[in-house]
Amino acid sequence: MGLLELFDKLWLDYSALNPQAGRIHGLLEARGEKLANDHIAFRTFAHPGIDIAAMAKPFERHGYVPAGDYVFTEKKLTAVHYQHPDPALPKIFISQIHMEKLSAGARSLLLGLINRIPPAFLAREDWIAGGRPWEVEYTSYEALERESEYAAWMSAFGFRANHFTVFANGLRTFPGLAELNNYLKSQGFRLNAGGGEIKGGADIFLEQSSTLANEAEVEFIGGARTVPACYYEFARRYPMADGKLFQGFNDKSADKIFESTDRKAR
Ligand code: NI
Repeated sequence: MGLLELFDKLWLDYSALNPQAGRIHGLLEARGEKLANDHIAFRTFAHPGIDIAAMAKPFERHGYVPAGDYVFTEKKLTAVHYQHPDPALPKIFISQIHMEKLSAGARSLLLGLINRIPPAFLAREDWIAGGRPWEVEYTSYEALERESEYAAWMSAFGFRANHFTVFANGLRTFPGLAELNNYLKSQGFRLNAGGGEIKGGADIFLEQSSTLANEAEVEFIGGARTVPACYYEFARRYPMADGKLFQGFNDKSADKIFESTDRKAR
């Protein structure tokens, strides 16, 4: 499967689950903007065969290389970002949750889901866009949510893009993220305000903001329930001393961005 084909598949899945992304995309294009994608983010479990290394494979096959490591101690996550030699291609940000750091109950619940992944699912070339390969009880989702919003999201949504990110430097009609944020709010979108609407700044060479995840109806064993799904992110990068735009991520900002799918943020 070609890289652009994979990106298309991920975008179609993501924008179907997160219609606000398509609406924002359309509103910006109607202003004459041409949108570039800063990064695509994925979530997974630190478990052999489905961990960061496994999810990165289709990207590494197409020339991506690891370019930064991140640790989110409180959320029990680690992450790696991958870059392509072609700067026009989005960075890939993959995080994973370390289940041994969760309670025995949460760990066995998650291992129960992982053990039900059909081998044929992981044999697919596009499994990272394959969605949720297990059935799950809503009570399990709730139990996970009490301990880790991230683990709960994974149990409900499985393997797919968690978010796409508009490269705000590429916007001509918005001088900065503040103006973009005000525009989005005027259009009725809700932003993640945890830690301030804009995370980071010129001092760390990266500013990010994001919408709050929209709610999606998800099938659980015993019936459908509405839970937070995906959000849309905006990133503005600043040049470093060498004049080149900073290409990495910031642990503290990313930590807050993760909470865009947290119901407690509402
Ligand atoms: Ni992001």
